[in-house]
Amino acid sequence: MENVRSLIDILELSVEEIDSLVELGTKILDDPAAYAHKCDGKILATLFFEPSTRTRLSFESAMLGLGGQVLGFSEAQSSSAAKGESVADTVRTVSCYADIIAMRHPKEGAPLVAAMNSLVPVINAGDGGHNHPTQTLTDLLTIHHEKGRFEDLTIGFCGDLKFGRTVHSLISAMSRYKGVRVVLVSPEELKLPSYVKQDVLGRAGIPYVQTTDLQAVMPELDILYMTRVQRERFFNEEDYLRLKDSYILTPEKLQNARPDLSILHPLPRVNEISVAVDADPRAAYFRQVRYGRFIRMALIMMLLGIQ
Ligand code: NCD
Repeated sequence: MENVRSLIDILELSVEEIDSLVELGTKILDDPAAYAHKCDGKILATLFFEPSTRTRLSFESAMLGLGGQVLGFSEAQSSSAAKGESVADTVRTVSCYADIIAMRHPKEGAPLVAAMNSLVPVINAGDGGHNHPTQTLTDLLTIHHEKGRFEDLTIGFCGDLKFGRTVHSLISAMSRYKGVRVVLVSPEELKLPSYVKQDVLGRAGIPYVQTTDLQAVMPELDILYMTRVQRERFFNEEDYLRLKDSYILTPEKLQNARPDLSILHPLPRVNEISVAVDADPRAAYFRQVRYGRFIRMALIMMLLGIQ
């Protein structure tokens, strides 16, 4: 809809807008009480057609922390989608009840269709194996706090780079900064899709290497972004079982890593990071969870045009 700004792809935000969101997210984190009434009287709807813990609850917690209210559903089965209603009709309806919508859907492009049919802003909270822009905002706030910069960083992405939507969105976001190098670590079957390699890394001229060997590249990394093998996107269970434990990060494997490495993971973790790594100060994934709430508060304010 005209005059309504949604967020479907991270590249819809300019570098300057990312900077202001990071700045606002940090201000809210430092003084949440100052923002506790910014969204008084506003309603957020969370329409989750796929499972979620962090994304849905952090959106709800963000809106509640701004003084707003929330409604929604957390599984397709409890909505009229189970009766065969289209995404377009569901959103036309919900946009009469809420001021802003966060939607997760297993089909790539569903939140875009939603945005085209909504009277209010729609935020893509993950669409199939495609994109996840608010996880990327969370990752960016984490990188900003851990490293103090977005430029001149070597980032290793490890695990399921094929279906991992958080990987696709973060690579898009980082491809706009100078001096960024990308190291892609995955089994052959789970390599980064060529559309991301060509349209994003290639077009931006970002140097990248692809390997199956995490140990060999570990000493180069400033950031290691671990991911879960995305079981729900596989066509057969056998392939999933064969690939699921391709990489398991342990304290031993971190022996040749840089002392200032930051280990990120969008979570949920299954097996790919041993719990013994959690005590390592380089493990940033639970700090990352905390940032997710504050950056979503900043995003909600921005899309609702609240100063
Ligand atoms: C991610 C997702 O849903 O894509 N989770 C999240 O939102 N933090 C990653 C995943 O499910 O593996």
